[in-house]
Amino acid sequence: GNIMLLNGPNLNRLGKREPDIYGHETLEDVARIVNETLRPANHSLIAKQSNHEGELIDWIHEAEGTVDGIIFNPGAYTHTSIALRDAISSISVPVIEVHISNVHKREEFRHTSLLAPVCTGQIVGLGIQGYQLAAVYFSSLSFREER
Ligand code: DQA
Repeated sequence: GNIMLLNGPNLNRLGKREPDIYGHETLEDVARIVNETLRPANHSLIAKQSNHEGELIDWIHEAEGTVDGIIFNPGAYTHTSIALRDAISSISVPVIEVHISNVHKREEFRHTSLLAPVCTGQIVGLGIQGYQLAAVYFSSLSFREER
């Protein structure tokens, strides 16, 4: 099936943006690594990024019935967006929330996720490897279904 890699605001600047916090690798590097991880499980990657809340909401809606899982870094919308939370609640596709940085070590306003309660799980603070670990999770699920 398909797995969606979804990135929110400012993540198009990954690699250039605050590299001391987010590292030097780009979103293209992330997509390549995730794709390599999904391939043995016969998953295809759909990679999308937007700086616009409404566009992210539209893509989450479109995921229903078309993808088997979403790997989602919502950026700062994590801490603010009831609308994204409602979008995730409106679909039955499992969503894994990923944060590159350890949000709990940072400013207080990053400690709360409005989305985590409606996600399958959350991976935080492991750098871009967090995206890969989410891909490993979806791959292992599909191997289990094949058996
Ligand atoms: C982030 C953490 C958010 O607090 C921040 O607004 C981001 C990136 C992360 O991946 O660590 O844009 O989601």
